[in-house]
Amino acid sequence: MNDTIQQVFKILESAEGPITADEISRELGIPRSTVSHHIKELRESGHDIESSLDAGYLLVRSAGPITPEAIKKVLRTSFVGIDTRYYESVGSTNWAAKKLCMETDPALLNGTVVVAEEQTGGFGRLGRAWASPKGGIWASIILTPKMPVDSLFMIMMAASISVARAIRRKYDLGALIKWPNDVYIGDKKVAGLLLELSADGDEIHYCLLGMGIDANVDVGELSPELQKSVTSIKAELGHDIDRASLLAMILREFESRYMIVQSGEYEPIIREWKSLSLTLDNRVSIRTARKSFEGVAIDIDQHGALIIRRDNGRIEKVIAGDCVHL
Ligand code: BTN
Repeated sequence: MNDTIQQVFKILESAEGPITADEISRELGIPRSTVSHHIKELRESGHDIESSLDAGYLLVRSAGPITPEAIKKVLRTSFVGIDTRYYESVGSTNWAAKKLCMETDPALLNGTVVVAEEQTGGFGRLGRAWASPKGGIWASIILTPKMPVDSLFMIMMAASISVARAIRRKYDLGALIKWPNDVYIGDKKVAGLLLELSADGDEIHYCLLGMGIDANVDVGELSPELQKSVTSIKAELGHDIDRASLLAMILREFESRYMIVQSGEYEPIIREWKSLSLTLDNRVSIRTARKSFEGVAIDIDQHGALIIRRDNGRIEKVIAGDCVHL
């Protein structure tokens, strides 16, 4: 490769998402036509480079492992993920993160990410089993937030927005958030989030933010039951994605929103969550431990409670339960 082709390749390789010919031409001080020419040459030499008119060029990387080294190459954060611990196989990244917090002062682990290629005992909301085969992104972030315990849902909001935004930006897929913490593409779940807390009354020791993203998961290999309700990014795009660069982008999107939450500003996060919500304005069926009912989801509050208007006009607040879109 000559020098400028190599520079174009380097820019594509380190970009977090698609990049336009204009941006590359500005960065390298070469004409736009030379950029297009080099892209053509790179493709001819075997590199898989996607292009779209609006977003620009995207280098499709091979589906390599999601090691700390691969993440570090593309990570643009100041503390989240700087320390990443990696497992080829682990019971649950949340358990591994909890063990770390018991061995070391959690304050020193703020932002540490535990990531695994597969989990043998992954779990989700309400202690349900979470299928975690190879190909997914199974990760937990250790956080030591300074905020009231009853506002912790803001961290979940920041996280679900970040996962949805990164999927939208990187792959142009219409990811949206289903209450309380799922990311959907169309009518299928692609990611789920979980927040575990260790606290003494109002004093938070640490939180574990678990993220499960069916990135390169082969949906056909999941149970018949899951196949009906789950999708993966690979299934949507028809090819593998580079998980390290998706995780790096999610961590960056999350870090900036987490800082906003930590500064006590909840309003912009709630607004953004609402703008990406699949649930609001929808007719839903709710099942809580105590009752089941139907109605229209009209709002969410900062504690994460979904507000439902029932057919008889009564307003209900649901803090935990299952929500089915009708
Ligand atoms: C849900 O939708 O119920 C939440 C699923 C959360 C799954 C993730 S995968 C990484 C972390 N480790 C786990 O065992 N669970 C979370």
